[in-house]
Amino acid sequence: MTTQITAAASGQFLLGGDRRVHRLGFGAMRLAAGGFTGPARDPQTGITVLRQAVEAGVDHIDTAGFYRRGDVAANELIRTALAPYPDELLIATKVGPLLVDGRPGGQAGPEQLRALVTEDLRTLGLDRFELVYLRVGGMSGPGGESVADRFAVLAALREEGLIRHLGVSNVDVVQLDEALGVAPIAAVQNQFHVHRGDDADVLARCVERGIAYVPFFPLGGGFDPIEHDRLASVAARHGATTSQVALAWLLATSPNMLAIPGTGSPAHLAENVAAAGLRLDPAELAELTAP
Ligand SMILES: NC(=O)c1ccc[n+]([C@@H]2O[C@H](COP(=O)([O-])OP(=O)(O)OC[C@H]3O[C@@H](n4cnc5c(N)ncnc54)[C@H](OP(=O)(O)O)[C@@H]3O)[C@@H](O)[C@H]2O)c1
Repeated sequence: MTTQITAAASGQFLLGGDRRVHRLGFGAMRLAAGGFTGPARDPQTGITVLRQAVEAGVDHIDTAGFYRRGDVAANELIRTALAPYPDELLIATKVGPLLVDGRPGGQAGPEQLRALVTEDLRTLGLDRFELVYLRVGGMSGPGGESVADRFAVLAALREEGLIRHLGVSNVDVVQLDEALGVAPIAAVQNQFHVHRGDDADVLARCVERGIAYVPFFPLGGGFDPIEHDRLASVAARHGATTSQVALAWLLATSPNMLAIPGTGSPAHLAENVAAAGLRLDPAELAELTAP
C-alpha cells in the first residue's frame, strides 16, 4: 500500500454532532519518547512526522501536556510544526494525570484542572480547545471512582467557551453515565485493539449516544503484542502490514470508531495513514477476533 492514500479514505465522523473529522487521526504520545522509559526522541523528526501527517489529511491530533521527556514536549512540537493551524485541524488534549519530576505522579484534583487546561492552551498557542478529555484512573484500566466533581470543572470551562466538546478517558460504563449526567460527551478514549476488544458496554453506550470511541493503544501500545498468525495471514493477502490490518479492523468495528495510532517514525506514519484505504471483508474481520 502506498502513501497516496490519505486519511480521508477512512471516512468522517461528526464529533459532538457538529465537528467533522476524518476517522483516522494521529496520537502525539510517541513524539517525545518511544516508551515510558528511555531517552527523548529527536525533536526535528517529530516535527517532520507532524507535518507529514497533516499533509496526508490527518485533521485530528490527540495530545496531552504530560507527553514530554526531558526538554522534548509534544505540545511544543505541535505548535512549532503546525501553527498557525489549518482551520480543519482539531487538537484534542487530556487533563488529569500529573507529572512529578517528569514521571507520572498521581491525579489532579478539581482545583488543579483549570490550570492544566490553561497551560495546554498556552503551550499549543490556542484560544480554546475543540476537545478536552478528563483522563481518570491509573495505568491498568478504569478505577471505578466518582468522576463528577472533576468533570464538572471541565463542564464549567465549556460553559465559559474555553472548550467546545468534552470527553472522558479510561472509564467504565458507570463512570461514563455519571459524567453524562454532568454535561454532554463527544468522545470516550479507552484502551481497545484487535486483541483487546473487551469494552463492549462502553462502546455500545457510545454508539447509542452518538459519542466517538477513540481507542488508545490501537496498535497494542508496544506492550500487548498484536502480532499473530491470523493477523499476518490477512495482511499477506492484502499486501499490507499487520499494523495496517489492526487499524483497518478497528475502523471496521463501528462507524463511531476513530483511530489515533501513535508514532515518532515517518515510515510508520505513512504506513498508518495508508491503512485508511484498507477494507477487510466480514470473514476476515471475524477471523481476526475468533477465539
Ligand atoms: N487516554 C490514555 O490514557 C492514553 C494512553 C496512551 C495513549 N493515548 C493516546 O493514544 C495514542 C495511541 O496510543 P500509543 O501511541 O500509546 O500506542 P499505539 O498507537 O498502539 O502504538 C504505538 C507503538 O507502536 C509503534 N508503531 C506505530 N506505528 C507502527 C507501525 N506502522 N508499525 C510498527 N510499529 C508501529 C510505535 O513505535 P514508533 O513510534 O517507533 O513508530 C509505538 O511503539 C497515543 O499516541 C496517545 O495520543 C492515550
